[in-house]
Amino acid sequence: MERRLFLRTGALAGATAALPHRLAGADALFAPVRGAGTRQDPLRLDANENPLGLGPMARAAATEAFAVANRYPDDEAAAFQERLAESLGVASNQLFLGNGSTEILQMAVQALGGDGARIITAHPTFEDVATYRLPLGTELIPVPLDSRFAHDLGRMREEAARSRSLSIVYVCNPNNPTGTLTDSREVQSWIQEADEDVFFIVDEAYFELVDDPTYQSCLPLTREYRNLLVVRTFSKIYGLAGMRMGYGIAHPDTVRRMTAYMAKSNTNQLAVAAASASLDDWAHVQRSVDSNRAAKAVVLETLDELGLEALPSHTNFLMHHIGVDVHGYIDRFAEAGIAVGRPFPPMLQYNRLSLGTPEEMGRWADTIRDFRRRGWI
Ligand SMILES: Cc1ncc(COP(=O)(O)O)c(C=O)c1O
Repeated sequence: MERRLFLRTGALAGATAALPHRLAGADALFAPVRGAGTRQDPLRLDANENPLGLGPMARAAATEAFAVANRYPDDEAAAFQERLAESLGVASNQLFLGNGSTEILQMAVQALGGDGARIITAHPTFEDVATYRLPLGTELIPVPLDSRFAHDLGRMREEAARSRSLSIVYVCNPNNPTGTLTDSREVQSWIQEADEDVFFIVDEAYFELVDDPTYQSCLPLTREYRNLLVVRTFSKIYGLAGMRMGYGIAHPDTVRRMTAYMAKSNTNQLAVAAASASLDDWAHVQRSVDSNRAAKAVVLETLDELGLEALPSHTNFLMHHIGVDVHGYIDRFAEAGIAVGRPFPPMLQYNRLSLGTPEEMGRWADTIRDFRRRGWI
């Protein structure tokens, strides 16, 4: 108990107070690794990561946490969970932590995907839910995105209505790989109207990057609706993709259903400390948002110059038309030392480009301009 209290107050305050001294060392030690820009060590514009790396407070806290790295993380994880719940305005028993948010998705599919359940997703969308259903043999109903690249909620509702068993509806908002939004009010009104035989997984991995005023999180609905799970992550805006920390928010009864499939001690001391400190590092969040906006501007200007259409992006990546098959395009970029993401069928004449720093996007811009000169796009 004492250690818990210390970690919630003392260690975090200590990490912050010690910052200037630690930063000199930590900066050199933990400066984000950038690809050299060669085929073997490419510039990474392919996995929607934060190119700025961990914030200074997270780095300092993770460094401190080596002191407890020989201890199981359960007390510290519980203290962090309480802090996180408080920051979100939910009860601690509405929250559960995952080894990245992908583990939250895995738990949900394992908890719900048996007994003839069907999974209804947009197409294309983030693939992990569809992947985790494979050992269970759960049927997948992919519903094409509508003409605005939003989830076609009307058709998804028809599919759910047709089902005689549980429908698990996965809504990725904003959607990966398109970066587009689905109308928040429409998602929420479906949740409010749906019967208990429809379960919603709303993936808000990119929530912190959305600045559209009409966008609303589904989080407030979790208190009332047992058939809803909201999924978030520290991998994107907070830059902790390599440390692994994600979380689910749901009604306490739903949390119990999901956590029956959770591995014991599924987080780790460094990730817990870094995530906890990240919650206080507003400056790093702001820097990341600003850098992302500037990087996006470089890309949009270049695409405009080349006459290539870009989908409206509310995330740290952007889907754009290339007018040629994406497989060869990816190979050519790899040859030029830049990893630019993977194919997302059926959008095989589009590329999903993750946003690096504005400078990195300048390098990407030079390369795609060169492709145009060579007649490759
Ligand atoms: C929509 C979405 N959900 C979940 C994840 C999983 O992220 P993580 O497991 O790192 O939290 C990603 C990763 O790219 C994603 O794009």
